[in-house]
Amino acid sequence: MRVITAPMDFNEEELYVDLRPMTGHRVLLKCEGFNFAGSIKLKAASAMVEAAERSGALTPESTLVESSSGNLGVALSMIAASKGYRFLCVTDARCNLSTRRMMEALGSQVHIITEPSATGGLLGARIDHVRALCAADDRYVWLDQYTNPANWKAHYRTTAPAIARRFPRLDVLFVGAGTTGTLMGCARYFRDSHHPARVVAVDTVGSVAFGGPPARRMIPGLGTSVRPPILDESYVDEVIRVEEADAIRTCHRLARSGFLFGGSTGTVVSGATDWLGRHDAEHLTAVAIAPDLGERYLDTIYQTNWVQDLYGEHLLRTEELTVDARRP
Ligand SMILES: Cc1ncc(COP(=O)(O)O)c(C=O)c1O
Repeated sequence: MRVITAPMDFNEEELYVDLRPMTGHRVLLKCEGFNFAGSIKLKAASAMVEAAERSGALTPESTLVESSSGNLGVALSMIAASKGYRFLCVTDARCNLSTRRMMEALGSQVHIITEPSATGGLLGARIDHVRALCAADDRYVWLDQYTNPANWKAHYRTTAPAIARRFPRLDVLFVGAGTTGTLMGCARYFRDSHHPARVVAVDTVGSVAFGGPPARRMIPGLGTSVRPPILDESYVDEVIRVEEADAIRTCHRLARSGFLFGGSTGTVVSGATDWLGRHDAEHLTAVAIAPDLGERYLDTIYQTNWVQDLYGEHLLRTEELTVDARRP
């Protein structure tokens, strides 16, 4: 039995799903969604709040403010409620309704940005809004997950060593890239500890994180319309880009086996499966990171109309054929 008094005190760090039955490749999926914030962003949120407390930037009079596609906002809402801080989350129209409701239920304020900025898309507009709030009132404290080193350091201290401990002979690690906090924490850890594992970044087609033209992206969490300031590509061994349609197909396929994961997990698993299919992977030890679970995406990735409207009927038909073809 474990007894806790603060919601941040629980996080399942040791759960992996072997995806071989679903993908044909032995890739172990590290599940980061089993905590009270429901996602990997609990780690970055805790680390950034603790760093702000230590530096004296955060006081009982402060209001935390952050731009988030949802999961960091939920984690910060939970921490703010637990520690007695006010929190305002700036998000955009792609934030799931249930995620927004969760933040409000935890006592946070939510501002939704609907108009992209001319150069930085919706993310740029969210950041402009945060900057304007901070300029107007110095009680706002912006943690700034995009530049805050506590973001990647959280994974350097927790996620990466947890994987290395369980898989000392790890060959390849697949990590999705949003702010690149998870990616950089893991990549720096493996490089600094002289571990030979290949760190493969998985990005979404249409994201500008590693270059490439911007395009519409509807799955929150992965990909970005502004180059991530904490990204240092010299630590990353390889980058693969996944179409959102493939990420959704992968989510649906995992769900048919009883595993309901979020869209970014579909992206990472799709990329990992493709990579392993192109390499002589039978004897490789491969791990991929699943940032959250699927409940938050019931109205989007797992909703027929949403999928058809955005990606066309074709996607669902292909999925059915794919699944049928695999069944005896
Ligand atoms: C669902 C989901 N997946 C992936 C990520 C990307 O993680 P990171 O910001 O560490 O790159 C996020 C970040 O918000 C997320 O919410």
